[in-house]
Amino acid sequence: METAEMRNLIEDKKFLFFGGKGGVGKTTMASTTALWLSDHGYKTLIVATDPTVSLSAIYEQEISETEIVKIGKEKNLCGLNINPRKAVGVFQTRMNEMMEGFSSMFGSELLSTPCTEEIAAFDQFVSYMGDTEHDKVVFDTAPTGHTLRELSMPFDWSGYIANQIQNRRELSETLGFIYDESMLDDLKKEKERYDSAVKALSDTTTSSFNLVLLPEKLPIEETERAVEDLGGFGIKVRSIIINEVIPKDVLQGNWFLEKRRSTQDKYLCEIDSKFNEMIRAEVPLFDSDIYGLDNLRRVGETLYGK
Ligand SMILES: Nc1ncnc2c1ncn2[C@@H]1O[C@H](COP(=O)(O)OP(=O)(O)OP(=O)(O)O)[C@@H](O)[C@H]1O
Ligand SMILES: [Mg+2]
Repeated sequence: METAEMRNLIEDKKFLFFGGKGGVGKTTMASTTALWLSDHGYKTLIVATDPTVSLSAIYEQEISETEIVKIGKEKNLCGLNINPRKAVGVFQTRMNEMMEGFSSMFGSELLSTPCTEEIAAFDQFVSYMGDTEHDKVVFDTAPTGHTLRELSMPFDWSGYIANQIQNRRELSETLGFIYDESMLDDLKKEKERYDSAVKALSDTTTSSFNLVLLPEKLPIEETERAVEDLGGFGIKVRSIIINEVIPKDVLQGNWFLEKRRSTQDKYLCEIDSKFNEMIRAEVPLFDSDIYGLDNLRRVGETLYGK
């Protein structure tokens, strides 16, 4: 039932995001999804932003940080592993260039932008949200409400200054500033770039935002907060993937596993009631960690069917 719903969701949308707390299985679900889509005839690109080249490990081949590479012998699958540490440099340089004009007026301290690896990585993401070469683009990490908020800050602020300047041109002239409309152009372009990315994220006809969690107390609370936070940006979470659910057929009277599973059952109920507006799909805990195409296909089958 939920398999068909999950399948419909990924077949229907072009941009697929996988968010969630550290270590819950985002990269696993994104890689699984990308492979499933490529197996089903969709030309698919997977983009990761992980300093630990996790895609390379999972697909058991080198995935480049700078260019899109083909994955294995799959004719429809390619990937890119953006290194957020390097992305920080690119982002900062661009911001600095844009801000230079303003710095001469207001001083550079005022204009320092909050910049974390996450923001820089998202900045790189943005360029793939205009993709026209693939049927599907799978993003291994979804931006959080926190990232989106920080991103919008320098731009709100630049708009504020622009207004101030426009409204008080006379004052600027008195203070000796030379007002140059073109100084705002780059910032305006940049703002448009982010606005359209956030719009694309919240566009339910093209994007699907999926959160991965474990059936445990803290991930549930964090997921609730994430759903609310993203909602503030008009982004609706479409599916909740509950990972590492202990399969019932392995319990076989083992008290330890039974206890773990009954704890999970309690949280599964909670997840059902808390996230009842979203598609909920379970992925079992496998008997080993997950890498390599064969394992990914096994996970894919549990999520999306054959
Ligand atoms: N259902 C599962 N059964 C067994 N192992 C799993 C399962 N899901 C994920 N794993 C393993 O858990 C580990 C973490 O998964 P993964 O790297 O996908 O998490 P992540 O959310 O991307 O982590 P990070 O936040 O560090 O990027 C990996 O070693 C993966 O193979
Ligand atoms: Mg990961």
